[in-house]
Amino acid sequence: MRTPLIAANWKMHKTIDEAIELIDGLLDQLDDDSFDGREILLCPPATALLVAAEQLDGTGIALGGQNMAAAREGAFTGEISPLMLLDVGCDFVILGHSERRHVFGEEDALINKKVKLALECGLIPVFAVGEKLEQRKAGAAESTVIDQLATGLDGVSANEMADVVIAYEPVWAIGTGETASPQDAQAMHAAIRGWLAAQYGESVAEDVRILYGGSVKPNNVDELMAEPDIDGALVGGASLDAESFARIINFA
Ligand code: 13P
Repeated sequence: MRTPLIAANWKMHKTIDEAIELIDGLLDQLDDDSFDGREILLCPPATALLVAAEQLDGTGIALGGQNMAAAREGAFTGEISPLMLLDVGCDFVILGHSERRHVFGEEDALINKKVKLALECGLIPVFAVGEKLEQRKAGAAESTVIDQLATGLDGVSANEMADVVIAYEPVWAIGTGETASPQDAQAMHAAIRGWLAAQYGESVAEDVRILYGGSVKPNNVDELMAEPDIDGALVGGASLDAESFARIINFA
């Protein structure tokens, strides 16, 4: 049984005061049903993690980082270590996000190091994969994603894999208002689960949650979540507004 996970990636948005206001607004919008059969995760910017942890304490909403260093500590100016994320109250960390890959040049080998270190430290990776538009047009969407999985998860054991969350985010759908059709998203999610089954066995593959990300909005979440292999959403823009994120959490 996979519990759906609705995750917010705020990216580089929200000061501390704005974060407090957004979380207050979100908590106001949610009721007991919002937590029924689903998990909620917020990934604010690093500067807001501490106040968010205090606000979320006891609410049942989990906290995650948006990235981390590939080392526990050391001379890595500007980086945040997995131990620091744990220290501030995170249970999750997004790794391999498209913006890390394509804006900051993170490569599969580095992302793989981060995934393994996160697992060693007890953080749950939300491991993001996704093809660019030209790769999709060339018929290489699935092979691109499978390559990212194979290199990014290299050396992760079947036992560890059961904890990993995968996020399929087609690059061309991020922040563009374009969403993969539920059928195309489902096809990719099924391909990912098929690859997981071949690598780790059926029972692990059945347990791994595969989130969809890329312009998830209140008006398209229901049809995406109706697909059998879509186990949640990783939401950017629409998570910055309490009402719209609450509507996404309350998907039908
Ligand atoms: P948008 O929902 O703004 O398209 O962003 C998706 C995303 O990158 C979440 O990680």
